[in-house]
Amino acid sequence: MKTRMHTLLLPLVAVALLNAAPAYAQAAKGKALYEKSCAACHGTGIAGAPKLGNADDWAPRIARGINSLYESALKGKPPAMPPKGGAMDASDADIKAVVDYMVAAAKGGSSKAEAKPAPKAEAKPEPKAEAKPAPKAEAKPEPKAEAAPAPAAAAAPAPGPSVAEVNAFNRLLKPIGKRNLPPTEDGIHDPANDGTHALQPPRAAFAALPPAPSGNNVNWVKAIETQRINPRWDKIDGSAAPVVMDLNIVREVKGSMPDVVYPHKQHTEWLDCSNCHPAIFIPQKGANQISMAAILLGQKCGVCHGKVAFPVSECRLCHSKKKDLLPASTAQKSN
Ligand code: HEC
Ligand code: HEC
Ligand code: HEC
Ligand code: HEC
Repeated sequence: MKTRMHTLLLPLVAVALLNAAPAYAQAAKGKALYEKSCAACHGTGIAGAPKLGNADDWAPRIARGINSLYESALKGKPPAMPPKGGAMDASDADIKAVVDYMVAAAKGGSSKAEAKPAPKAEAKPEPKAEAKPAPKAEAKPEPKAEAAPAPAAAAAPAPGPSVAEVNAFNRLLKPIGKRNLPPTEDGIHDPANDGTHALQPPRAAFAALPPAPSGNNVNWVKAIETQRINPRWDKIDGSAAPVVMDLNIVREVKGSMPDVVYPHKQHTEWLDCSNCHPAIFIPQKGANQISMAAILLGQKCGVCHGKVAFPVSECRLCHSKKKDLLPASTAQKSN
């Protein structure tokens, strides 16, 4: 493999957190769609989303009346609540059923204690829909020999944030105490193998590396930059070196968030061009539709970020370019 993501970066087996909400039988249908399309944000409260079952988060919203909530759910609420929560193929009635479910959950839940996941969900990783996205994401980018794909090679633009699967491997969806378990308990290594007991737990193995505030708490970009690690580029050819390309792509973001700077350099130090082109991104500036909803659902940048690269909670690492602060009326640009 021409990718340097090693096993320690792989996510732990997902804990079935999406099952965490208490069962509100009266809204079973809403619950199913909620888990598929809304839990990624509303299960964790990411970007200020009101959390499922949290009465404090919901009370002021419920006070505005159910129709106002229906409308936000259908049309979206800037900046971070997408229209229909991104589930564009769901009917209006389905979306309203989810809102009913969320409102019922908020009325049934308390502000703190009861919003916690049911113990059942923590006990064992249930291999369900959650387990699916990972192998796909990992396997897709087939390393190829030749380096640069022709910019014109790819055909139709990738589809927008149509909702496929919730990114259940997002680290934010894991309870704090469940991250980076020792190898004997992580569900990845074989506990019956003696070698497993000789392995350092990730925390110990990472201790000497530059720290980061999130993910597995290692700044991997800095680790490679400062040569604290020097991962082998090719499994077979020990002298092979990466094709590092220093090209930044700036993606302008509507609204108040700073623009996104996508750096090729930091990526090509770890990855082959074919890990991204053309399966994830058409190699042409502006040719890809990228949105936060898609990323949170494990598409586009979210194929890796939140799984094997720093998580989506680190807004400023991606949204790193301050906007021109001139008011629109005096700005020179015409757009
Ligand atoms: C990409 C993240 C994201 C997804 C996915 C998402 N939401 Fe939201 N949602 C938010 C955020 C953030 C807010 C808070 C918006 C605000 O008040 O500024 C919100 C608010 C809401 C509200 C309250 C609106 C109000 O008027 O106060 C409802 C209802 C809602 N979402 C329903 C849904 C439903 C139903 C789904 C799934 C079909 C969904 N959301 C999926 C992020 C998301
Ligand atoms: C981690 C994913 C990733 C990797 C790896 C990657 N790219 Fe890209 N590349 C992108 C993204 C994202 C864009 C911007 C697409 C857009 O703006 O719609 C892009 C754009 C491009 C463009 C268009 C530039 C322009 O100005 O139009 C070229 C050419 C390109 N990449 C070549 C490469 C080559 C060659 C490599 C390997 C050395 C590579 N890429 C590796 C993600 C990647
Ligand atoms: C892995 C990189 C990455 C991280 C981390 C990230 N974003 Fe984004 N964000 C993007 C990209 C790429 C776009 C699409 C820009 C464009 O329109 O081309 C985007 C777009 C947005 C938009 C514009 C609306 C939309 O959905 O397209 C908002 C708002 C936003 N991000 C908020 C956030 C917030 C809040 C966080 C932190 C919780 C965050 N982002 C973290 C990459 C990231
Ligand atoms: C194929 C996997 C993959 C995809 C797709 C991907 N990234 Fe990354 N990204 C990585 C890896 C691996 C790193 C280095 C490890 C880390 O920082 O966690 C990285 C690092 C970065 C960094 C460097 C942060 C720093 O400390 O300098 C930025 C910024 C970033 N990614 C933004 C993006 C954006 C924006 C997109 C989507 C347009 C994207 N990435 C898509 C894998 C990916």
